[in-house]
Amino acid sequence: MQTELKYSPTMRALHWLVVLAVSIAVVAIEIMDFFPKGSAERAALFIVHQTAGLSVLALMVLRLLARVATQAPPPVPGTPLVQLAARLTHGALYALMVGMPVLGLLALAWGGKPIQPFGLNLPLALTQDKTLAHWSKEIHESGATLVYIAVGLHAAAALWHEFILKDRLLRRML
Ligand code: HEM
Ligand code: HEM
Repeated sequence: MQTELKYSPTMRALHWLVVLAVSIAVVAIEIMDFFPKGSAERAALFIVHQTAGLSVLALMVLRLLARVATQAPPPVPGTPLVQLAARLTHGALYALMVGMPVLGLLALAWGGKPIQPFGLNLPLALTQDKTLAHWSKEIHESGATLVYIAVGLHAAAALWHEFILKDRLLRRML
């Protein structure tokens, strides 16, 4: 009997934990704007954003280690163009999931603002720099659009495989 090719249990767990943490970070920051500036709700939601965002970074470090330590299943058959699109999207997702939290951290540190995952005060002693703070925040905010596009394409491709191609690709990650 042939065993179904799957990602390792660690890779599968980390994939869905990252999805959960990114979703919390995005929902928290998107609903923050419904509350007035200076309100307690806004401050709490921003702490949730930072906590979930920094959890993404920690999970991604583990994920990259797991990726090199374990064997990923070979790509499913597809035209070279589709294979390339999948590789590029996965690469973009890895880069965004590491880059976004780092830029968010730098925006706060260069802006001289507190970094408060879990409500704690994370010391990151960088010399204040308004220009660098401005640009890291700008790139972080534009990066969010790229996250929406890359995750949207990626999830749509996974669902296409599941419901149209019916090639059991989704099961490799479940
Ligand atoms: C994968 C992780 C993250 C994602 C997907 C993400 C996504 C976002 C999004 C969608 C916004 C709103 C953009 C807009 O209003 O145009 C935002 C704003 C922001 N994020 Fe993140 N973020 C992440 C991690 C972090 C982390 C770890 C920090 C800091 C520790 C951080 C700090 C900020 C800051 C300072 C803003 C601007 C808030 C404001 O002044 O309105 N982010 N982020
Ligand atoms: C924040 C959201 C997501 C991120 C950052 C993400 C990231 C990734 C990355 C980087 C890979 C490549 C793994 C590797 O080869 O090392 C991957 C694979 C995969 N993801 Fe996601 N993913 C997300 C959401 C989703 C969703 C919503 C679904 C399902 C609807 C999904 C289904 C899959 C599947 C089936 C694979 C395996 C693809 C294959 O075997 O070629 N992902 N994901």
